[in-house]
Amino acid sequence: MVVISQQIREFRKSSSWIRKMFEAGIELKRKYGVNKVCDFSLGNPDLMPPDEFQYFLEEESKKTGPFLHGYMPNAGYVETREAVAESLRKEIGVDFTRDDVVMTCGAAGAMNVVLKSILNPGESVVILSPYFVEYKFYVLNHNGKIVVSETDERFLPDIADLESRIDGNTRAVIVNTPNNPTGRAYDEAILKQVGELLREKSKKYGKPIFLISDEPYRKIVFSDSKYFAPVKFYENTVIVTSFSKDLSIPGERIGYIAVNPVMENKEELIDACIFCNRILGFINAPALMQRVIRNVIEFSVDVEVYEKRRNLLFESLKDMGYDIVKPEGTFYMFPRSPIDDDVEFSKVLREELVLVTPGVGFGRAGYFRISFCVDEKVIEKSLERFERAIRKIR
Ligand SMILES: Cc1ncc(COP(=O)(O)O)c(C=O)c1O
Repeated sequence: MVVISQQIREFRKSSSWIRKMFEAGIELKRKYGVNKVCDFSLGNPDLMPPDEFQYFLEEESKKTGPFLHGYMPNAGYVETREAVAESLRKEIGVDFTRDDVVMTCGAAGAMNVVLKSILNPGESVVILSPYFVEYKFYVLNHNGKIVVSETDERFLPDIADLESRIDGNTRAVIVNTPNNPTGRAYDEAILKQVGELLREKSKKYGKPIFLISDEPYRKIVFSDSKYFAPVKFYENTVIVTSFSKDLSIPGERIGYIAVNPVMENKEELIDACIFCNRILGFINAPALMQRVIRNVIEFSVDVEVYEKRRNLLFESLKDMGYDIVKPEGTFYMFPRSPIDDDVEFSKVLREELVLVTPGVGFGRAGYFRISFCVDEKVIEKSLERFERAIRKIR
C-alpha cells in the first residue's frame, strides 16, 4: 500500500544514491571499524564552537523569567536582529537595519522562506552547477521549476550561459560563494557581471529577478583569498545564511534572511518572509539560540585549521596527479575524477576505505567532492590510499 505522495516518492528516488553512499559508509565502518575508514563524505563541521559560544550558552541558560522561552514576533528578537544588522554593516559595509533582517531556522529554513515568499507556480529558479543538491527540492517544495546553468571549468558563473537560461519566466538566481562543493569564492569582476546581467534582465521583463545569495561559508575564506559580497553588486539581492558552519553549530538551526536595504518595495518582501516563517511552521528561530548568538556574532571557528587541511590535501593530491581547482574557502574540494565515471572512481576509493561523494550528485559528473571537516590524522592516513587509487586506474 502506498502511503506517501507521488512527489515525495520521486524526490526520494532522485536522491537515493546519496542514501546508498551513506549506507555503504556505515557498512564499511561496521565491517572494518570506524578508525580504518577515512570518511570525507559529510559536511558536518568537526571543530569545536568558539569558547565564547559555550560561555554565553551557559549564561543565557541560567536566566529565568516569564516569556524567556515564549513565542515572539515571527521575525525574531529585536536585539538579535539589531546585532545581525550591525555585524553586516561592519563586515560587508552595506547599511542594513534590523528591519531588513528575519531570523530563521538555519540557511535551509531561510531559503525555503524566501522561495515560498517569491515563487508563483511554474516560475523558474536558476541554479549554478555544480550545486548544493537540496536546492532542487527546496524550489520544488514551492512549485517552482529548476533551470541549471553550467559554471566554467574554474567553477565561476559562465555569463553567456547564465544569460541564455534567463527568460520572462525566471524569478530568481541562486549563488553560493564560497561554494559547496567547489570551495570557490567569486571575485568582484564576476559578481559585477552577474549584477549587470540581472539588472538588464529585470528591466527587460519589467519585474525584479532576485539574486538569492546563500552564504553559510562567508566567514570560512582562506588567507590567500578575499570574500566579495554579492549584495554589493545588485540591488535585488536577498541574503540567506546561518551560523551553522562558522560557529560549528548546524544542529542548533539558527540563521537569518537579510534583504538588501536599497531594494525597491523591500517592506513587502520582508513582511512576506515573516509571514512565511510562520506558515511554513518554523514560527520563529529558536529563542535560546537567538539570545546566545547576538553575543558571539563577531566570533568564528579557527579558519586556519581548515586552511592547513586544504593546503595539505591540495598539495598532496596535486603531486599525485589529481586535477583540482584550489579551494579559496569552505571545507570542500572538488577534484576531477581521473576516469570519466565519477561513481566508478568513488568505488575505487571505497575499496581503499576512503569515502567521497561523486560529482554527479552535485550536477557535475566527472568530479568528486572531498569534505575535509575531519581530523588532520585522517587526512594523513588517506594520502597513500588516494595515491594507490589513482595508480590503479592509470
Ligand atoms: C550551500 C549550502 N547551503 C545551505 C546549507 C544549509 O545550511 P543550514 O544547516 O544552516 O541550514 C548548507 C549545508 O550544508 C550548504 O552547504
